Amino acid sequence: WSSDVCSSDLENATMARRPIVGGNWKCNPAKVSELDGLVANMNTCDTANCDVYVCPSPLHVGIVYQKFNKGVYCAPQNCNFKGTGAYTGEMCAEQMVDMGMEWCLIGHSERRGEFGLPTPAESSKLIADTKMGYLLKAGMKVILAIGEPLPIREKGIEAVMEVCKENLAPGIPHMKEYGAEKIVIAYEPVWSIGTGVTASPEQAQETHKAIRAYLAEAVSEEFAAAVRIQYGGSANAKNAAALGACPDVDGFLVGGASLKPEIKDIVDLLVAAKA
Ligand code: PGA
Repeated sequence: WSSDVCSSDLENATMARRPIVGGNWKCNPAKVSELDGLVANMNTCDTANCDVYVCPSPLHVGIVYQKFNKGVYCAPQNCNFKGTGAYTGEMCAEQMVDMGMEWCLIGHSERRGEFGLPTPAESSKLIADTKMGYLLKAGMKVILAIGEPLPIREKGIEAVMEVCKENLAPGIPHMKEYGAEKIVIAYEPVWSIGTGVTASPEQAQETHKAIRAYLAEAVSEEFAAAVRIQYGGSANAKNAAALGACPDVDGFLVGGASLKPEIKDIVDLLVAAKA
């Protein structure tokens, strides 16, 4: 009978993916005096049926992290992989744990160098293996951002999936070890970030579905059924309903619109689309 129990658990896991929306403030706002307004926007989000997290700038995390309502999680935009010590300019998981933080974003395309870093980009191995493994071991949960640049999208879905798999592959052992509770994937096509060009619902669904199929094969059916995959890239209150209606889109990672009151509407529209 145990296999029957397992298969019904699997179905429940499929049904039970809780929507999740993140606000990525990036290197904003310019002034400390603007923080209270941005915190208030996040705190208007209804978290009854949706997890909400916010990624303040590193300089501002320590100012705001205790100001969010229950259900709105403060998630730094990056993490080192060594802990405390002589790592100038870095942040570590031990500090986050001590401050009561549960989530951390890693692998954002802007961290990978997509805004024009003249230095080598952070590799997928560093992000999905070293950093993700270090964060998970420290007890944190991870939002792992992945996604392709425009020239790859122009080649079609197979080329897109090559990039997504390359981004994800070094993290597969951690996904097997820690499970879908601890990891969220944020699929963010680079060409749609901050450009106002959103992936169409068809493009988002096709890609999310392919990512889930890859994870079913590489990790397990159970992990793939339960893991939440967010879409990111010019998500806003105008496109949240249509994108949120896609069965494999479990939420959004929102940049520009997370600095505005509409972040609340994005959460509401997503929850309504999933209801
Ligand atoms: P955007 O940013 O919503 O401003 O496009 C999304 C992101 O980079 O996380």
